[in-house]
Amino acid sequence: MRKGQILTLLGIGLVVGVIATAVAVLPQWLPVRASVEAGRIDFVIWMTIVISIVIFALVGAVMLYEIVRFRAREGDDSDGPPIHGHTGVEIVWTVIPLVIVTAIAIVSAVVLSRNGNAGVNPLRVDVTGVQYAWTFTYPDAHGLTTNVLRLPKGRSVVLTISTKDVIHSFWVPNFGQKQDAVPGLHPTLHITPDRLGTYPVVCVELCGLGHSLMRSEAIVMTPTAFDKWLKSQQAAVTSPNASVSGAAVYKNNGCGACHTLTAAASSGKAGPDLDQLPKWAAQAKQPLASFVRTSITDPNGYIQPGFPRNVMPGTFGATLSTQQLDALVRYLISSSKKG
Ligand code: CUA
Repeated sequence: MRKGQILTLLGIGLVVGVIATAVAVLPQWLPVRASVEAGRIDFVIWMTIVISIVIFALVGAVMLYEIVRFRAREGDDSDGPPIHGHTGVEIVWTVIPLVIVTAIAIVSAVVLSRNGNAGVNPLRVDVTGVQYAWTFTYPDAHGLTTNVLRLPKGRSVVLTISTKDVIHSFWVPNFGQKQDAVPGLHPTLHITPDRLGTYPVVCVELCGLGHSLMRSEAIVMTPTAFDKWLKSQQAAVTSPNASVSGAAVYKNNGCGACHTLTAAASSGKAGPDLDQLPKWAAQAKQPLASFVRTSITDPNGYIQPGFPRNVMPGTFGATLSTQQLDALVRYLISSSKKG
């Protein structure tokens, strides 16, 4: 082979190598990191990717060279030299991978152990999945429950993940970790948010027809804003003359994920439009109040034409208190008339 051809091949190898490295490194493949733990996980990922790219480039370059340099020439039918093993080379190709794999294992173990360490006084939040919504309860704030996860920046947080029905999986891509919500189990997830902002909360376990709608938000706030929010919410929860608010029951149980209700600024489309409740009750030939109530406690008892069965959770009859149910029914009736 002429020198020119070898140079051409090496040139192609170089160009392809540069493009491959750029594709691997330049685009923002991973979500913006919003927790200390995600930063450590990304470090492990990038470390292994860089090691892999270097090895790939070396092996590729050597292979390309060998193919060109030691190819069979025209008319050369002779055998190659009888080589059997080479102790030196074998030691090298055993020791190098051993060192690399051991290094990755050590770094991973350190990251796992540091990510699992929540320190002495973490903020505790109970995360509960139900078809098809997430709720977040702050046990240290008189059991305050919300449908959006609010966390202070810089504080260690332990999330306890559970489910009221089937298997769900809690994931905030920007926090870098997933955890399944399995009936009967209460696994925890440790997160230290380190970036202000609003991030998606996603269900990543197929849990039924509304799986793709089972989304919420995680809002990372400054510690001052978080304390202020917590205090204002707590006051509402503990105030002796605070009556149960139907609007809060609606919001905290994730009804808006599937239903439209102008009064609650929700625009879900998976279930019937709640602004039209009087019309639907008339269609079902039922009195409005009992129609609304049984539609919540026994959603499969009557299915609105055009909507599938078994989408609305059948658990609300058991999970809502009588006061909450009363408040929700009152709220829906008054809101739908207004709407
Ligand atoms: Cu819950 Cu998918």
